Amino acid sequence: MSKPVILLGHGGHASVMRALIAALGRRVVGVLTPALPVGSAWQGIPVLGGDDWLDRPEAAAHEFALGLGRMPNQPQRRAGLFAAVQARGLSLPVWVHPSAVVDPSARLADGVQIMAGAIVQAEAVLATDVLINTGAQVDHHAQIGAHSHVAPGAVLCGEVVLGAAVFVGAGAVLIQGISVGAGAEIAAGATVHRPVPAAVRWIPGRAPQPLPLPFHLP
Ligand SMILES: CC(C)(COP(=O)(O)OP(=O)(O)OC[C@H]1O[C@@H](n2cnc3c(N)ncnc32)[C@H](O)[C@@H]1OP(=O)(O)O)[C@@H](O)C(=O)NCCC(=O)NCCS
Repeated sequence: MSKPVILLGHGGHASVMRALIAALGRRVVGVLTPALPVGSAWQGIPVLGGDDWLDRPEAAAHEFALGLGRMPNQPQRRAGLFAAVQARGLSLPVWVHPSAVVDPSARLADGVQIMAGAIVQAEAVLATDVLINTGAQVDHHAQIGAHSHVAPGAVLCGEVVLGAAVFVGAGAVLIQGISVGAGAEIAAGATVHRPVPAAVRWIPGRAPQPLPLPFHLP
């Protein structure tokens, strides 16, 4: 029997994850967030505490889902939370919305989230904690580094390679074979037809801007 699920975070992505988990017929029994009082309710679900709840013995009886995305300027936040759960040996399964299309030959590592209407094509390889958001398309043989977020409606053509913790903005299009370095951020709506170096912000018509913060994965 499947274990009950605990959601980390209470923002917009958490709402969408709650809906995905419900669509799979699973039940979220608790929310972990330091921002709401313990014992209060979020969307009718009890708030159990902050990240320190992960140290309680009963944590092992649950599965976990991250309820926050990797947003611009925040490469470490989601990755850090993922690492905190993983370091305790707790389960972060793959979550795939029933309306998503994932080819059986695609490889999805722990904690990957594929949201409603997304498509992941043949032989794509998604590393730990990758988030493919609503209606995004990842075509054949794409390789996506750990903790990367492909935002709603973005299109990665065949054989695109993303490093770790890349952010691809909503509706961006990456043509076939393009590589994007770790920690880079692609603006919403950009068409990317040249390789993008690591740790830059890529906005159409502008020189790549180095990101203000040094990029370190936990
Ligand atoms: C690229 C991005 C991170 C830049 O954010 P920022 O550093 O705060 O940049 P600013 O809003 O200050 O804009 C800087 C300049 O770039 C331009 N710009 C910003 N985003 C742009 C975009 N997506 N496409 C084209 N130009 C853009 C702005 O118009 C501004 O131009 P100006 O200097 O001539 O006024 C942001 O605009 C973006 O695209 N975020 C992704 C949003 C998204 O996909 N969300 C999905 C969530 S699930």
